[in-house]
Amino acid sequence: MVKKWLNIVYKEKNSTRLKKHYREWADGYDSDLKEWGYAYPSKVKQILEKYITVKKGSKILDAGCGTGYVAEVLKALRYNNIVGIDYSKDMLRVARSKKIYKKLVCESLSKKTSLKGNQFDLVICTGVLTSGHVGPVAIKELIRLTKNKSHLILSISEAIYEKLGFKKEIEKRADEISKIYISKPFIALPNHKSSARSRMYLFQKI
Ligand SMILES: C[S@@+](CC[C@H](N)C(=O)[O-])C[C@H]1O[C@@H](n2cnc3c(N)ncnc32)[C@H](O)[C@@H]1O
Repeated sequence: MVKKWLNIVYKEKNSTRLKKHYREWADGYDSDLKEWGYAYPSKVKQILEKYITVKKGSKILDAGCGTGYVAEVLKALRYNNIVGIDYSKDMLRVARSKKIYKKLVCESLSKKTSLKGNQFDLVICTGVLTSGHVGPVAIKELIRLTKNKSHLILSISEAIYEKLGFKKEIEKRADEISKIYISKPFIALPNHKSSARSRMYLFQKI
């Protein structure tokens, strides 16, 4: 039976069960997302080419990196100092096989991580700040990990931006991050009928 992974993972409310879903989906994730026309990689690329200058050797954190699908774009742009963090060791296994990351860390983003603060020149988090995954609480941690004056690129879907408290959390942190660019809403998975509409958010840590 072909499982409807998109509906399964975004409807799941329990983090332990979600991890089990990703265990099962890990090997099929890339081909599914490719088929569904995953828009985040090209949106990240666009931001890096158009809105900010990030030097090639810069230390980048891919937060909730999954299989490294988005990091493939970073590799193609010749970034080579990338750290990935994700709580699913099965998604990390696929990411590791791509040999893109300097380091992969298996930890949750829902609490303070063991990573040293104020160390990344860029933090990217796509498809993670969403229902059933990681809530607004992670924004504080992502900011902590970012160097002063450096950037964060986040995707957040429209339907949950206010509902789950992302808007409030971002507003609360106005003295820590400033908004540089917010994209127009776009369909994250254009070839999937249940896809969410999302926006890309680019912040600079103050
Ligand atoms: C839809 S995938 C996105 C992966 C990757 N960023 C991408 O754009 O392809 C969501 C990822 O979030 C991870 N995740 C979910 N909850 C998490 C948590 N509490 N801490 C860390 N990672 C989590 C999952 O393991 C999964 O790899």
